[in-house]
Amino acid sequence: MTETSTKKLQGKVAIITGGASGIGEATAHLFAEHGARAVVIADIQDDKGRCVAEAIGLNRCSYVHCDVTDENQVEAAVDWTVKTYGQLDVMFSNAGIVSRSDQVILELDFSQFDHLFAVNVRGMAACVKHAALAMVERRIRGSIICTASIAGSKGTKVATDYTMSKHAVVGLVRAASQQLGEHGIRVNSVSPYAVATPLLQKAYRKDAAGVEEDFKELTSLKGIVLRVNHVADAALFLASDESAFISGHDLVVDGGYVQKSN
Ligand SMILES: NC(=O)c1ccc[n+]([C@@H]2O[C@H](COP(=O)([O-])OP(=O)(O)OC[C@H]3O[C@@H](n4cnc5c(N)ncnc54)[C@H](O)[C@@H]3O)[C@@H](O)[C@H]2O)c1
Repeated sequence: MTETSTKKLQGKVAIITGGASGIGEATAHLFAEHGARAVVIADIQDDKGRCVAEAIGLNRCSYVHCDVTDENQVEAAVDWTVKTYGQLDVMFSNAGIVSRSDQVILELDFSQFDHLFAVNVRGMAACVKHAALAMVERRIRGSIICTASIAGSKGTKVATDYTMSKHAVVGLVRAASQQLGEHGIRVNSVSPYAVATPLLQKAYRKDAAGVEEDFKELTSLKGIVLRVNHVADAALFLASDESAFISGHDLVVDGGYVQKSN
């Protein structure tokens, strides 16, 4: 195999929201390794985002401050990318949060609920909208990927707002993929099982080892633990031409997750 054929994103320009940490950070590294001409990390953790961009190399990775709850900032990040690099081929809309409290329905806190929806739902929609506008305007047959979750298709004992938000992400992908197909733009989601990123460690108030221990029982696949690189591999597949005829799909990365029946 030639080097070129192993590089799945040769010459492409990608934005990754939430690229300063966890799944987004791993994906930024992988996209750059696969020949992306530019990877733009859009996040609110400025120091971390800049460090990731520097680690990848400022010749092909940049950091922009972008709070996805603010449509103007999303539009500005897309405009900056297009002005700087000439086009946008891939949007990985990945930024997401969990609420501080358990958010069981009987104790649902609506101020946390509203903020979570502003990030996980409205922010996702803003990223899809402005990426698609940039692609349509320049006739780019791009790929848009949203990070949903296994909580996007199943119920959960806690985190009602989070589970609702990820169901909404799957709905966004289904609607947008129907509408953008005529422009050659593909829209898919990747739905991870539990990965011990800062987000999940915060949600379960445990360190990475503790989180992994808690979740390993629930997958049918044994002898392997889900790590950020597995999710990044799925995002790379959806970003690349290897998935050229796949749109409106929710790619679960869950090791054959078996939900407890209780
Ligand atoms: N970790 C898991 O188990 C898991 C499972 C399924 C889905 N997910 C989803 O994966 C995505 C990435 O999460 P992660 O686990 O890598 O967590 P993470 O906390 O490591 O990364 C999330 C990133 O999003 C950024 N972010 C938060 N609010 C933002 C905002 N308003 N604007 C821009 N950026 C913002 C954070 O600064 C952070 O860098 C999220 O959408 C999450 O819901 C995670």
